[in-house]
Amino acid sequence: MRCAVFGTRSFDETSLARAGAGRVEFAFFKPNLSSQTAALAQGCALACLVVGDDGGRSSLQALKRAGVRGIALRSAGYNHVDLVAAYELGLPVLRVPSYSPSSVAEHAAALLLTLDRKVHRAYNRVREHNFSIEGLLGQGLHGRTVGIVGLGQIGAAFARIMAGFGCRLLGLDPAEPEEARALGVRFVNRETLFRESFVVSLHCPLVPATRHLVGEAELQSMPPGAYLINTSRGAVVDHAALVRVLKKGRIGGVGLDVYEEEEGVFFHDLSDQVLEDDQLARLLTFPNVIITAHQGFFTQPALDAIAEQTVQNLLWLDGGSWPAEFEVSAKTHMPGGTAP
Ligand code: NAI
Repeated sequence: MRCAVFGTRSFDETSLARAGAGRVEFAFFKPNLSSQTAALAQGCALACLVVGDDGGRSSLQALKRAGVRGIALRSAGYNHVDLVAAYELGLPVLRVPSYSPSSVAEHAAALLLTLDRKVHRAYNRVREHNFSIEGLLGQGLHGRTVGIVGLGQIGAAFARIMAGFGCRLLGLDPAEPEEARALGVRFVNRETLFRESFVVSLHCPLVPATRHLVGEAELQSMPPGAYLINTSRGAVVDHAALVRVLKKGRIGGVGLDVYEEEEGVFFHDLSDQVLEDDQLARLLTFPNVIITAHQGFFTQPALDAIAEQTVQNLLWLDGGSWPAEFEVSAKTHMPGGTAP
């Protein structure tokens, strides 16, 4: 079976080729999926997409015209695919729901520790033989309150790490998972979480209810010197509001692994180009903002797990029809949870 891989990066090619050897024939394409590039999938029964691919209705229609019968996402998040359109076109969409929750949680912790101990600034200083520690004072994390939004697999892994640092844990999650309670998380409402948390870390999916969940009111209500960490999806944070509040100087620091307008920027080397996004350019000017380009997942164990699950998904799509369970899961993922 032949599968068109869109948005291929060198590490995708290495890990997928290894996992699929003798089982799946991959056609690797560097361009991201769009209605213009979908024709590359001609001759492929399946397509494999990544965050950054445009899985909107017109792209899916073009994939269907090219002969694609099913889609495997090599990501947990699926907000870049129009599931209603996929359902209507009869294109099953499988994802990798879990590959290495600890990888993303560890990256969130790395952003937090870097911000608090100003490692990013210390690194640059020492390289220039400036061994002064003036201005590098940390606030410390032991005994602080950490608010976690979304206590699924990654949020729970982050809770475990922060419990190890001796932090008090608050949680916001409509499902209020029992496992999180067992880790010492106390569930509160949104107002309480932002008002009481010295650190807020976001681990919820991007769905209509979480779009701009962090806005001006939430940021303003955080304690002075508080930290915000986002490794979930960019649009969970209102970045225009974030810039406004950062300019007031009350926030201790912000660590972002995702950004509202990251498509076309993250994962690309733009070092010899003008950065067109003024908001991103402004965010990069703050000494207390650290941005990484969606690398939370990027560890070898995670790549291996993504590749293996993707191959399994492709084999299932190749042999499988549209089972009743999939219809149920597609419907429950529709905006508002309703069937089309
Ligand atoms: P998960 O499905 O295990 O957990 C998500 C949790 O969020 C669930 O407990 C759910 O009840 C909760 N949730 C849903 N709506 C909510 C709301 N309105 N407010 C608060 N919580 C809400 O997902 P997992 O594996 O923990 O991943 C979380 C997110 O992390 C993904 O959706 C994805 O966007 C992001 N992610 C980022 C990566 C990166 O490289 N930066 C890599 C993988 C995932």
